[in-house]
Amino acid sequence: MLNPKVEKLVNEQVNKELYSAYLYQAIAAYFVAGNLPGMAHWMNAQAQEEVIHAFKFYSHILERGGRVVLEAIEKPPVEWESPLAAFEASLKHERFISDSIYKIYDAVVETRDHATRPLLDWFVNEQIEEEDNATANVEKTKLVQGNGQGLLMLDREMGARVIPAPILLGILPAAK
Ligand code: FEO
Repeated sequence: MLNPKVEKLVNEQVNKELYSAYLYQAIAAYFVAGNLPGMAHWMNAQAQEEVIHAFKFYSHILERGGRVVLEAIEKPPVEWESPLAAFEASLKHERFISDSIYKIYDAVVETRDHATRPLLDWFVNEQIEEEDNATANVEKTKLVQGNGQGLLMLDREMGARVIPAPILLGILPAAK
């Protein structure tokens, strides 16, 4: 049985992960409008990964006999000042998500909801990668600020990102 305090926080996390997808889809659209298809592709892939994150929390609630409560998803921004500002917004958001996951972890420890720990351990590790990727995007974009050719090269590099497969992310069992 899922602890009610943890259940509430995990439900809120479903919403936060879906907002992450919304935010990254909005950034992708901003990049398309700015003729940066590779960066748009990277953000589209990231948005898909966020939906998978939401689904992981959603499934956990159901598996533990809890009740999923889906709330309205906040409207994300439409415009950013520059590609760098968009990547900085994504880094800031990932730090917010990490902090939110740590708060769930605190509640899990406090309520001795040990059965939720493996899921959160997965997310704590995942957030290391998420923040690392978001930081790399910021740093690389800083390097090419004001250099159109460098920006196009970075755009091409980001266009090579492989779309995440749910099986590889451990969401769906691999076929036997
Ligand atoms: Fe679901 Fe990017 O954290």
